[in-house]
Amino acid sequence: MPGKIRNSKFEIRNSRGLFVSFEGIEGCGKTTQVKMLARWLKSRGHQVVVTREPGGPFIAEKIRRLLLDVRNRHMDGLAELLLLEASRAQHVAQVIRPALARGATVLCDRFADSSTAYQGHGRGLDLETVDRLNRTASQDAWPDLTMVLDLPVEEGLRRATGRGRALDRMESQEKRFHQRVREGYRKMAAAEPGRIKLLDGTQLPDVVQAAVRQLVAAKLGTGFPLRKPGIHEKVKSEKIGHR
Ligand SMILES: Nc1ncnc2c1ncn2[C@@H]1O[C@H](COP(=O)(O)OP(=O)(O)OP(=O)(O)O)[C@@H](O)[C@H]1O
Ligand SMILES: [Mg+2]
Repeated sequence: MPGKIRNSKFEIRNSRGLFVSFEGIEGCGKTTQVKMLARWLKSRGHQVVVTREPGGPFIAEKIRRLLLDVRNRHMDGLAELLLLEASRAQHVAQVIRPALARGATVLCDRFADSSTAYQGHGRGLDLETVDRLNRTASQDAWPDLTMVLDLPVEEGLRRATGRGRALDRMESQEKRFHQRVREGYRKMAAAEPGRIKLLDGTQLPDVVQAAVRQLVAAKLGTGFPLRKPGIHEKVKSEKIGHR
């Protein structure tokens, strides 16, 4: 039975894998936490698929390049949202759904909540429209658990700048934009406390990771979720690059 790992400390009682997304402003530590969690879960015998948005499969990575290219500074907000949703639909169809169907734990560095925070709260697009498009693109692949790593915008941007590469189109938005995004995430976590967990991203990586592991372990222990995967889904594995 896919996903059932008898020797693991946490016995997965469901055939569909756990879907965990990581969210927050630039430089809040998403990629760092995803990597640490993946290593830990793998060491416990879990099948883990690490992926990211925008991006993932080849088509979605192409769209990512359009979205992050600083030369596209005049991109319309709705065009931006639709590109993200197109990329998301491909990502879900090609990577996330097949992985969940075979029982893998999927760790996604940003997912649909990023559109709510950035295009909705950040750009001011209608939140209902964003939500509808998010649901359409994600189909039935919705995160079981979402970690929002919260920290002041100045700290996030300082960390992102300190990585030594040029800032991309999203990172180089004005500070007020990032502040609206941060506030958006905080509101989203308050509105959906069962799924969206707000963590203090200013703490040391190990401290943040301890909280992340506790939340994931609790979720695995409850025998999440109830949705059944399609048994005939074809799995295509693809190497996915990361920042
Ligand atoms: N808890 C932490 N405390 C201090 N520095 C951190 C912490 N977590 C990550 N960092 C460092 O901050 C920088 C940004 O971290 P990371 O790349 O994980 O953030 P991110 O959220 O993935 O950023 P982006 O949104 O730009 O992809 C890295 O140099 C990383 O080593
Ligand atoms: Mg990152």
